[in-house]
Amino acid sequence: MPALEDLEQRLGGLDGRRILARCDFNVPLRDTPDGRREISDDLRIRAALPTLRWLVERGAAVTACSHLGRPAGAIDERYSLAPVAERLAELVPGVALAENLRFSPGEASNDPAFVDALVTGGLGISFGGAPVGSAPFDGYVNDAFGASHRAHASIVGPPQRLPSAAGRLLHREAEVLGGLRADAQRPFVAVLGGAKVSDKLGVVEALLSVVDTLIVGGGMCFTFLAALGHPIGDSLCEPDFIETCERLLQADAQRDSANVVLPNDITALDAGGTVRQMGRSLPDGCRGLDIGPGSAAEFDDVIATARTVFWNGPMGLFEDERFAAGTRAVAQSMADSRAFTVVGGGDSAAAVAQFGLAPYMDHISTGGGAGLELIEHGDLPGLAALRDSPQQ
Ligand code: 3PG
Repeated sequence: MPALEDLEQRLGGLDGRRILARCDFNVPLRDTPDGRREISDDLRIRAALPTLRWLVERGAAVTACSHLGRPAGAIDERYSLAPVAERLAELVPGVALAENLRFSPGEASNDPAFVDALVTGGLGISFGGAPVGSAPFDGYVNDAFGASHRAHASIVGPPQRLPSAAGRLLHREAEVLGGLRADAQRPFVAVLGGAKVSDKLGVVEALLSVVDTLIVGGGMCFTFLAALGHPIGDSLCEPDFIETCERLLQADAQRDSANVVLPNDITALDAGGTVRQMGRSLPDGCRGLDIGPGSAAEFDDVIATARTVFWNGPMGLFEDERFAAGTRAVAQSMADSRAFTVVGGGDSAAAVAQFGLAPYMDHISTGGGAGLELIEHGDLPGLAALRDSPQQ
């Protein structure tokens, strides 16, 4: 992929050049008591700073653009990037920001007319810095790793039309996440959690052919436990996927070493609202909400021997302190481990931050779905678009 330096060279310097920087500023927001919306975690804004500052230091006139949430192709104030504009102006003054790209239906449908508007500077509303105005851009930078699995207008359109480059964040994310598939140091352990097994079946299959051990926890483990014939009470389950989980476990059992590790004990809430430690089988009315302490210890043993660990998805409902122990234990095992540790996905990254363990991880990815898709498919539309961008 072309780097920022390639773009600088191609444009004969960046001083006074108008650069469109696609970022992933899809940050979590919360409502304040006085009725405003504020950012609860600005990781994705801070992660784009090396690229934005590099461009600004070289004299470029930078307009950043991003999506926020999933507005249905129309202006919806709840998804305004105004809180992001405020934070961005504090962190890197002078960078203009266009309003939410998904306020236009042309973004998600990759409408050529919307790409035209993007590259000619006709985006309209902006906040702070210089107005977006109507002057065409001279170059494009994609630093939105978290959105590069979407073949949306702002991701795949500009590289066909403008001299383009990968930003620092995109480059590093592609290197780390892409590298897991190709040349992770062994033993390579992946830990998957989160609510839905259906979201992760593709990556489970892909990981099974590259990892030494795949640990499965979180809400998604119950469909696997059901596939093994365990009663799972009222725990999360996707019945349509039990058969697929069964097939994956059978294929796994036929390999020389058993790759998939499921929890042996569960922390559950019973019908009377009492938290109970259970084995793998849960009676009706009982809902599994975290892995149990035995599983946490077992997972720790596996992680302790690893040279590479990739983690995506919490082990339980960690926002509730009663069910946070499993997720905290995995985060702690990773922090203690000497392996190269990669955390992907908004929830896992938030958990690691909540437990104060972020500084002990080697890489915290800003991409959830994008990271999983890169591991699954080995490429993303946004990366391919940059590689295919005409270089002369
Ligand atoms: C994310 O939060 O994973 C990215 O910003 C992509 O958002 P999307 O799933 O709404 O496309």
